[in-house]
Amino acid sequence: MNCESESLLEIKDLKIAFKTPEGIFHAVKGISLEVGKREIVGIVGESGCGKTVTALSIMHILPDNSVATGSIDFSGIDLLSLKENETRETRGRDISMIFQDSLSSLNPLMKVGRQIEENLMMHTSLDSRNRFLEVLDIMHKVGLPDPEQTYKKYPHELSGGMRQRIAIAIAIVCNPDLIIADEPTTALDVTVQAQILELLRKINRESNSSIIFISHNLGVVREICSIVYVMYAGHIVEKGPVNKLFTDPAHPYTMGLIKAIPKRDSKGKELFDIRGRVPSIADSIPGCPFEPRCDYAVERCKKEFPGFKKIANDHEARCFLAGDI
Ligand SMILES: Nc1ncnc2c1ncn2[C@@H]1O[C@H](COP(=O)(O)OP(=O)(O)OP(=O)(O)O)[C@@H](O)[C@H]1O
Ligand SMILES: [Mg+2]
Repeated sequence: MNCESESLLEIKDLKIAFKTPEGIFHAVKGISLEVGKREIVGIVGESGCGKTVTALSIMHILPDNSVATGSIDFSGIDLLSLKENETRETRGRDISMIFQDSLSSLNPLMKVGRQIEENLMMHTSLDSRNRFLEVLDIMHKVGLPDPEQTYKKYPHELSGGMRQRIAIAIAIVCNPDLIIADEPTTALDVTVQAQILELLRKINRESNSSIIFISHNLGVVREICSIVYVMYAGHIVEKGPVNKLFTDPAHPYTMGLIKAIPKRDSKGKELFDIRGRVPSIADSIPGCPFEPRCDYAVERCKKEFPGFKKIANDHEARCFLAGDI
């Protein structure tokens, strides 16, 4: 969190485990993070590192086979200790989520305008006329053309970019304090991606909502976030202001993610990939989980996973060599 901003969300030592027929596996292994009021905070990492399940735990919609421990303080309320009926009120009104895949998160059998309106029905006392007007207004705000016509469409009748705008409209219609955007631009082409990023920036500016922006692409995160948490194998391995992460990355994993950002002139050229693969949640790892893929690993990294090492006041990383590479 930026030192000037007031805290909105504070996650402490969050652990998420899944009970499966093969055993109990830990997808998130004790992470802590903070989001300030009006801040846009990024969570970045490769596939399977625990970004979405972290978001689902904030929304209180983890799958039934999961157990979450630790604390998630949202404006003084511990979300993890709330009962289901209490979280239903918070969800959609105070905190909302734009899901990873807008096509499957929208109801294919319901007109899109109606899907936006449902959130207003649940969380406001507006009558149907005013709800309708509010939906048209929000559709206009998110840049959907001809709101009255678009209201009546079904998701499959819209382009990917338009569907993502509907998903954003559903998320912001009740003016939440916190929006979690999980890979909101991954399936979109570059031009539409830029438009959606600009829309999220505008929402953050005009409605004062804080945003947690999740992506596997550090390049996209750089365009929108002020603070970034880098996640690897269920851990946060580096956190800091986005510019410091780029000018002075401290964890070899962050360095790899920066190298892997596709360049504008990389068309036709081979993209850099961090060697090896992300460990499975079923792997038991005694030392640093990144050690097998790390170019800087020393003997000690095989046995020990260090805590956070401070590089600056607002910048730290879980690596023995942080600040020295
Ligand atoms: N219901 C479940 N039961 C068992 N394991 C699960 C369940 N849901 C998620 N997982 C596991 O938890 C880990 C983290 O998954 P998560 O979806 O959070 O990854 P992610 O970082 O969002 O990846 P991606 O970039 O692909 O979206 C993965 O190993 C995944 O297989
Ligand atoms: Mg995900």
